[in-house]
Amino acid sequence: MSKKRLGIGIIGAGFVANFHIRSWVGVRDADIMGIVSLSEEESSKAASTAVKLGVGEPRVFKSITDMVSDTNIDAVWICAPNFARIEVMEEIVHTIDSGKGELIGVACEKPLGRNVREARKMLELAKKANLLDGYLENQIFSPSVIRGKDIVWRRGAALTGRPYLARAAEEHSGPHMTWFWQGELQGGGVLNDMMCHSVETARFMLTPPGEPRDSLKPVKVTAHTSCLKWQDKKYAEILSKNSDGRLDYIKHPAEDFARSLIEYMDKDGKKIIVETTTSWCYVGAGLRLSMELLGPEYSLSINTLDSGLKVFFSRNVKGTVGEDLVEKQNAEVGLMPVVTNEESEYGYEVENRHMVRSFLDGKRPMENFSDGVNVTELLMTAYMSAENEKTVEFPPPDLESYIPSVAKGEWNPSRSK
Ligand SMILES: NC(=O)c1ccc[n+]([C@@H]2O[C@H](COP(=O)([O-])OP(=O)(O)OC[C@H]3O[C@@H](n4cnc5c(N)ncnc54)[C@H](O)[C@@H]3O)[C@@H](O)[C@H]2O)c1
Repeated sequence: MSKKRLGIGIIGAGFVANFHIRSWVGVRDADIMGIVSLSEEESSKAASTAVKLGVGEPRVFKSITDMVSDTNIDAVWICAPNFARIEVMEEIVHTIDSGKGELIGVACEKPLGRNVREARKMLELAKKANLLDGYLENQIFSPSVIRGKDIVWRRGAALTGRPYLARAAEEHSGPHMTWFWQGELQGGGVLNDMMCHSVETARFMLTPPGEPRDSLKPVKVTAHTSCLKWQDKKYAEILSKNSDGRLDYIKHPAEDFARSLIEYMDKDGKKIIVETTTSWCYVGAGLRLSMELLGPEYSLSINTLDSGLKVFFSRNVKGTVGEDLVEKQNAEVGLMPVVTNEESEYGYEVENRHMVRSFLDGKRPMENFSDGVNVTELLMTAYMSAENEKTVEFPPPDLESYIPSVAKGEWNPSRSK
């Protein structure tokens, strides 16, 4: 099937689906032609955003089967929650297998699965249905990451040696939906939710341009997890109230802080280090992504809150609470950074352009489900290290079947030691 333009179906109409839709103003050769979610109201709202932005005329479908069966849909973007990954993918593949629908590709949001078994199943299902697969890790497509990597490798590394250390951090004050906070549904706490970004962005920056992923081999992982804020009585009560009693962080917390140190070896046997930090207990202006890349005679740094645009509102500007200046915004007065085009700066726009171009060219995207599996393997090894409080050699035995205790509802740091 040779196409000049793709019809995209979006599965899920929540937070991230809307990010993708808004990013589409910078995407060529594809239109958003379908949306399906558990809420018709949410889907219709997302569909009208797409129409308003001129990025497609999506039909709201009642089921994934109906959407995949529609001849206007050539590829789907999975933007449903982590706990629905496998059922969503099985329905896509079943629709194709039963001859009701045909797709070129599937793109899936992070994390690919809640554990290695799920992530690998996603990869197997995509292969079974002969689909091109894209793993939606937006941060490696962020213009400052791409441009920074290019400059550092072309100038600094070419003349003085490769970078040896990358730091990546993602921090905000806590997720917007209850399921993210529930270890069983989400797959863990902040480590699973956000370290997937940091691990992959750091690896991407450290990999020589044009070289394959396995030019860096993970050797050892040392990690730590804690619940620093949300298990305190006052904050646990806020979580309980905001979730209609579904969250009890005194008894069933998930980590709100995690760090990892991943040791890699490059092709020449040189040690390369990745250091990541993630937290749901950072109260600043809003979401902060920071990255650093260090080499023998150079360094690079990115901080998304160091934005060019800042506004100041005096205490007399008593506006309503919003998220219009920056994602996960925490305040509306004082000196506030504004991320002028979040969809572009966080990488969604370039990511979606790449996925669409790859699907149209019949090529597997450069970031695909195999990368999603690799990221999950590293995250699960990090959980093992944190649980056992020791460095773990990669790959550890039992990685395929391992489920972190936080994802089984068995993790409670206040009860240990
Ligand atoms: N790349 C990023 O930075 C980023 C940011 C946020 C979320 N995410 C990822 O995106 C995914 C969705 O997160 P979100 O914040 O949009 O969640 P959300 O809860 O805001 O939205 C989830 C949407 O999926 C729909 N849904 C739930 N189960 C479904 C099913 N079985 N079939 C079809 N639709 C279903 C819901 O109706 C809702 O519209 C998660 O996997 C999350 O990890 C990625």
